[in-house]
Amino acid sequence: MAGNIKLMVCDNADSVAKEAAKVFSALISDRPEAVIGLATGSTPENTYAELARMHKEEGLSFAKVTSFNLDEYWGLDGDHDQSYRYFMRTNLFDKVDIRPWNTFVLNGKAQFPAIECEAYEQKIVSMGGVDLWLLGIGGNGHIAFNEPGSPVDSRTRLVSLTQETIDANSDGRFFKDASEVPRCALSTGIGTIREARGLVLLATGAKKADAIAAAVNGPFTPDVPASLLQDHPDCTFIVDKDAASKL
Ligand code: F6R
Repeated sequence: MAGNIKLMVCDNADSVAKEAAKVFSALISDRPEAVIGLATGSTPENTYAELARMHKEEGLSFAKVTSFNLDEYWGLDGDHDQSYRYFMRTNLFDKVDIRPWNTFVLNGKAQFPAIECEAYEQKIVSMGGVDLWLLGIGGNGHIAFNEPGSPVDSRTRLVSLTQETIDANSDGRFFKDASEVPRCALSTGIGTIREARGLVLLATGAKKADAIAAAVNGPFTPDVPASLLQDHPDCTFIVDKDAASKL
C-alpha cells in the first residue's frame, strides 16, 4: 500500500536537489519564520548547495528561520569534522544568513543523554513544531538513526547503529574506516518526525531502490522505518530514476 505518500520521480540526482530546494524556498518565502527540519549525509548535500545559491543569487533569507536536525553521533563534539553539527555548518549554515542560535543539533557530548533528548523534544514543541522536515533514507529503510525495529511512537533518544549503517558511513564518503564510526547516536524518534506538518524524503541511486520500494509499496512496519510515514497527511518522496527503479 502506498498510503498517502506522494511520489516525485526526477531524471537525476541534480533534479532531486533542485526540486527539494524549491519546496524549502517556497516555504521560507511564504513563511520567513518557518521551523524546518534538516538531515545530513550525502543525499542532501546538493540541496543545501542549491539553497545556498538561492540565498546568494536570489536573496532567499533564512534570517528568521529555526532549524532542527535529525540526529548526531554520540561522543562527537560539534567541532569534530565528522559531527553533524560540523556538516551543517560547512554545507549550509555558514553559507546562508541563518542565525547560529536558531540552529538546533543534538549535543553528542551531552553529559546526560536522556535530559538532552527530552530538552530537544521540548524545544521543538516550544517553537510550535516543525513545518517541514527534510529526510534521507538508509539502504535498510532507516530514517534519522531509527534502525529497523524502531517503534512508530519512538521519541528522541540514544540509539545503537546497525553494522549496515556503520559500514555505509565508512565507505570513504565520511569515516575512512568502520572502527572510527561511533556505535551510537542521539536520534529524533519516528514519533517525533511524524509530528512534523510536512515531510520531504530524498533518495538517489540504485542502492536505495529496495528501501524506497519497501517504504512506498510494502507493509506499514517497523522493519522498514520509512514505511511508517505511509499514513502521514503530507509526505512527499523526491527520488531519482535509479532509486525509483523497483517501484
Ligand atoms: C542523517 C540521517 C540518515 C541519512 C541516511 C542516508 O541525518 O538521518 O538517516 O539520511 O543514512 O544517508 P546518505 O544520504 O548518506 O545515503
